[in-house]
Amino acid sequence: MDMMTRMAALTAQALRETWPEAQELPEAEEIRGLLAVPPDPAMGDYAFPVFRLAKALRMAPPKIAATLAEGWNHADVARVEAVNGYLNFFLNRLNFARDTLTAVLAAGERYGASDLGAGKTICLDYSSINIAKRFHIGHLSTTMIGHSLKRIFDFLGYTTVGINHLGDWGTQFGKMICAYKKWGNKEEVERGGVAELVRLYVRFHEEAEADKALEDEGRAWFKRIEDGDEEALTIWSWFKELTLKDTARVYDLLGVSFDSYAGESFYNDKMDRVVNELKEKDLLTISEGASVVDLREYDQEGKETKTSMPPCVILRSDGATLYATRDLAAAFYRHDTYHFDKCLYVVAYQQDLHFRQWFRVLEKMGYEWAKDCVHVSFGMISYEGQALATRKGHVVYLEELLDQAQQKALEIINEKSPNLENKEEVARQVGIGTVIYTDLSNNRIKDIDFHWDRALNFDGETGPYVQYTHARCCSVLRKAEAIDLPEADFSALTDNEAQALLRLLGRFPDVIREAADKYEPSMITRAITDIAQAYNKFYYEHRILNDDPAAAAARLALTQAVRNVIKTGLFLIGIEAPERM
Ligand code: ARG
Repeated sequence: MDMMTRMAALTAQALRETWPEAQELPEAEEIRGLLAVPPDPAMGDYAFPVFRLAKALRMAPPKIAATLAEGWNHADVARVEAVNGYLNFFLNRLNFARDTLTAVLAAGERYGASDLGAGKTICLDYSSINIAKRFHIGHLSTTMIGHSLKRIFDFLGYTTVGINHLGDWGTQFGKMICAYKKWGNKEEVERGGVAELVRLYVRFHEEAEADKALEDEGRAWFKRIEDGDEEALTIWSWFKELTLKDTARVYDLLGVSFDSYAGESFYNDKMDRVVNELKEKDLLTISEGASVVDLREYDQEGKETKTSMPPCVILRSDGATLYATRDLAAAFYRHDTYHFDKCLYVVAYQQDLHFRQWFRVLEKMGYEWAKDCVHVSFGMISYEGQALATRKGHVVYLEELLDQAQQKALEIINEKSPNLENKEEVARQVGIGTVIYTDLSNNRIKDIDFHWDRALNFDGETGPYVQYTHARCCSVLRKAEAIDLPEADFSALTDNEAQALLRLLGRFPDVIREAADKYEPSMITRAITDIAQAYNKFYYEHRILNDDPAAAAARLALTQAVRNVIKTGLFLIGIEAPERM
C-alpha cells in the first residue's frame, strides 16, 4: 500500500473513532482523492482538507481539523497540525524511508508486479498492419501502446494474447495480383519487396482511370482468392510472406512480438456463423441490395437519439463480407478460443464509429460480453509539423525513422561519451527508446508531433533523459561496495529531496494499476520521468558516497531502488535500459 492510501485509511479510521455516531462519513477511497501534497513541505507531507465533513458533522471546518489533530495517534505520523480547515500530516520520515526502500529492494525488478489478474485473460489486438503496404509511422502508436499494455497486464498477472489482426483480405489483393500479372515479375518483387508491391498497386490505380475494365479484372482475381483458386492463393500468400518479412525487421528493432497473426483472411470460413445468426435473430435488413444491421434509435418524440448510428453493413450486394463482418467473426472466435475477460482493440480514433457499430451489433445479438470489447483509441502522429498523407506521398516509413534515430543517437554519444564501449548497441537502445518514449509520453488520445530536437534532448523530458538517469544510478552503484541495508541509517533520507523521491517510488505500484485500468501507458512514462527528475535533484543536493558509511548505505539503497523502478518502468513501456551511456 502506498503512503497516500495508508494515510487515507488512517484518516477514515480516525474519523469514525472520533465521531462514532456520525452518518455519511467519507470512505478511505474518497479521502484518498481529497488528500494533497502541500507545495511547501513546511506545511506537511500530506494535507487533508476537512471542508467536505462540515455538513455531516455540523461543525465548522477549523474545529473539525483541531479535534482530529488533538486525538490523532499513530506511529506512521510524527506530528499533525490543524491549520484552518486543513489537517497537515508530518510523516515519520525515517520509518517511511525504511519501509519504502525495504519494500522496493525486496521486490527487485518485480516491484509493482502482482497476481491481480490471475486466472483472467486479456486479448490485445494491436499493430494489425496491412499486407502489401509499408509500415509507416501511422502504425507506430497502435504497435507501441498495444505492446506496452501487454507488458503491463502480464506484470499484473493476467494471461495475455497479443494478436496482429493482419489486413490481408479484400478486393485490393485481387487488384494487386492483377497488376502483378500484367506489369510485374518475380525477380523484381523479390528484390523490391513491399515497395515494389506498392509500386504495382499505384500503377493499377493510374491505369484503371483510363481503363475501367481493370477494376472488374481486379475483382475477379479477388473472387478467385475467395474461392480458393490455387494460382491466386499462391500469389496472395507470397505477398503476405514478403510483407511479414519486411515488417519483421521493424518488429525486431522495436522488440515487439505477437502470439497470433490470425488476420482478416483467417475468418473467411467463419463468417457464415455471423451471417446466419444475424438472420436467425432477425437483425438483418436489406438496404440497396446490401445486408445491414439497422442501428438507428429514436426517442419518444421520434427524434434520433445521440447513440443512433448509421447501419452496420454485413454483406455487400454482391455477397462479399466487410471489415465489420470479419471483426464480428474474430470476436466470436477469440471469445470461444481464449475466453477473454477483455478484448482490447488498439486502433486510431478514426475508426471509432466502426467499433461502436459492431460492438452494438454484438449487443443486439444478446451477448452481454459485448461490454468486454474495448476500443482503445489514440490520436494522430505528425512528423516535424507535417501531417501524414499516405496517398499524396508524404509518408514516413518506420524503418527509416528508426534507422535515423539510431544514427542521430550515435552522433550524440560520439560527442558526449567518445570512450564508451559498445557505442552502437547503446545508440540502438537510445535511438529506439527516443521514438517509443515520444509515442508514449502523452495521453494516448492526444495527437503527437514528432520533432527530432525535442525527442533527442538529453536534458528534456525524453527517453534519453530517463535512460541517462538509469545509467547514472548504475554508475553510482558500480563505485560502491554492496549495500549493507541492515546497517543503513535512514535518517540520512529525511530531507525534502529524498522524501519527494520516496513518495514517487511508493506510488509506483498504484501507477501501474491505474495505467492498466485506463489503458494508458503514458502514466508509466510520466511516473519514471518524475522519478528521474527527483533523483537528479537529490543527486545534486546530496553526496551519496560520503564519509558516513551508514548514511551512504541509505543513499545507495535509494539509488538502487530508483534504478530498479526506472528499469521496470522503461521495460513496461517497451524501452531498454542501458547501464552506461
Ligand atoms: N488493419 C487495420 C488498419 O490498418 C487495423 C485493424 C484493427 N483491428 C481490428 N480488429 N479491426 O487500419
